[in-house]
Amino acid sequence: MNKVKKAIIPAAGLGTRFLPITKAVPKPMLSVLDKPTIQYITEELSEIGIEEIVIVVSPDCEVIRKHFGKAESLEERLLQDGKQKLYEIALETRKFNVKFAVQKQANGLAGAILCAEEFVKEEPFVLLLGDELLYAEKGEKPCVKRLVEIFEQTGKSVIATMEVFGDDVSKYGNIGISSEEDGVMQVSRIVEKPSITEALSNNAIIGRYVLSGKVMGMLKNLKPRNNEIYLTDALDELASNGELLASCFEGARYDVGDKLGYIKANVEFALKSKEIGEETKEFIKDLASRL
Ligand code: UTP
Repeated sequence: MNKVKKAIIPAAGLGTRFLPITKAVPKPMLSVLDKPTIQYITEELSEIGIEEIVIVVSPDCEVIRKHFGKAESLEERLLQDGKQKLYEIALETRKFNVKFAVQKQANGLAGAILCAEEFVKEEPFVLLLGDELLYAEKGEKPCVKRLVEIFEQTGKSVIATMEVFGDDVSKYGNIGISSEEDGVMQVSRIVEKPSITEALSNNAIIGRYVLSGKVMGMLKNLKPRNNEIYLTDALDELASNGELLASCFEGARYDVGDKLGYIKANVEFALKSKEIGEETKEFIKDLASRL
């Protein structure tokens, strides 16, 4: 009953922090090296066996659908030219069982989740923000895997957090913790982007969640503020009923929807790349010596 099989990736935001590119290209299609963020996110899901994925897109967004669909003439041409390796790369995104839901108006994250209601029905689901990249080193447990395990053991919704300090505290949703056992925190409250003095802990909410089916119903009943409905309002209600857990992710996280985060992700992924890692390292050393 607590088995998690489905996932929602909201990708219909306006991406205003990344204008002008986001006029025509949705933020989750921004590329880190040669792959768009949203593909890394679907890979995060397939690594742990979650294959029923719905991506929430804006009405005029063709490019994400295209990325997960068949590129007929390109595929034919690569085959004809005997470029088997490139052909396989082009096919990679077709193996995901991706469906699409449309968010007519960008009325916030909770609005995007509600657009996927028909797909999720009353089942639990993973929620992955389309503009955050997480990176677990070999041997480290992937963040979503840990969240799914906690949900399947407890039946309670669970969110991922990371430790933040100083001014960074005010950039994220912040949680109050009433108890902690084996790295699983019981969340007592949530505050949105608090000042340093209002913060309840050093734990900031990041873009990975496993939410119980009842969250959909809660979102439908929320009152809008500034024309948006807020996921955090539903999470705060869960927390005050003792129904929300959190787990701190210790791997690397990149906010690809932010210019600096985007550059950091590209540099680090380039350094890890088999193809250009060594040359990137030499370039960075040379650059650093000139700064
Ligand atoms: P953000 O708040 O970071 O994205 O949403 P945004 O609104 O697109 O960006 P800025 O702040 O204007 O630059 C996090 C994720 O939720 C999706 C976004 O696409 C992003 O992947 N989202 C956000 C939606 O799908 N619909 C919305 O109405 C809002």
